[in-house]
Amino acid sequence: MADSRAIGVFDSGFGGLTVLSAMRQVMPHESMVYLGDTARVPYGTKSAQTVVNYALSNAAALLNHGPLKMLVVACNTVSSVALPALQAALSIPVVGVITPGAQAVFANKASSIAVLATTGTVTSNAYEISLREMGFAGTVVSKACPLFVPLVEEGMVTGDIAKAIAEHYLGDIPRTVDAIILGCTHYPLLLPTLQTVFNTPVQWIDSGKMTAHFVKKELRKQELLAGQFNVPNYHYLVSDAPDKFEQLSAFYFGEPVEKGNVELVDIKSSTEQVKI
Ligand code: DGL
Repeated sequence: MADSRAIGVFDSGFGGLTVLSAMRQVMPHESMVYLGDTARVPYGTKSAQTVVNYALSNAAALLNHGPLKMLVVACNTVSSVALPALQAALSIPVVGVITPGAQAVFANKASSIAVLATTGTVTSNAYEISLREMGFAGTVVSKACPLFVPLVEEGMVTGDIAKAIAEHYLGDIPRTVDAIILGCTHYPLLLPTLQTVFNTPVQWIDSGKMTAHFVKKELRKQELLAGQFNVPNYHYLVSDAPDKFEQLSAFYFGEPVEKGNVELVDIKSSTEQVKI
């Protein structure tokens, strides 16, 4: 049975477009509605409770927009702290980026890993918890890299400043790790600089890409995949500055989003005001 309903995807802002791009490549027939909470970004520096509240209101805004068959939380920070609350509140399946990223550690047969992420994700320890639940017995080193998000948002993914900041964060990551998880939506855009600075062979795990494959498997398992002749539809919701979203989309998504497909929405900050 084919299901042509859209997949809802949300992130704190633009960064989740890297995950949307991976999803589009893996599932070219699926329609997707993306919400970027551009008014309240960044999430990575906020408390867990605030992030949970934001996540619930984002989910409500997406569902108020139209029917969805699955919700994908592209943001690592939200996935780290808000999945149980989202799963309890919603009747559709909710998928985050932590489990797929952690599973890739096993697929790569890594025995010693590093996680690079926002302060919120590192504080939650979500990747290590997920890995331990899966039976991972190796070493996990976590590093909060708070300057990476503003760096990417300024478009400074290469050059001397990017290199200096990468050296600052990667300096004390043991060169003996065999995998590094890019545990933030923005970090894949820094990959060439990170590779140059780390300068040691290692598996780089892009949790967004892993999530795209995970979502496809879940949709298949739950018989929710769209038919192979489905003409996909993409729509974008933002809580602030739709013009900036249109302008910057190419950088994160690989191509500019279609003009006129970006809609400004009012995300109610109180979950009591919105229907999930
Ligand atoms: N999307 C966030 C994440 O993946 C990074 C940006 C932010 O701090 O909001 O953790």
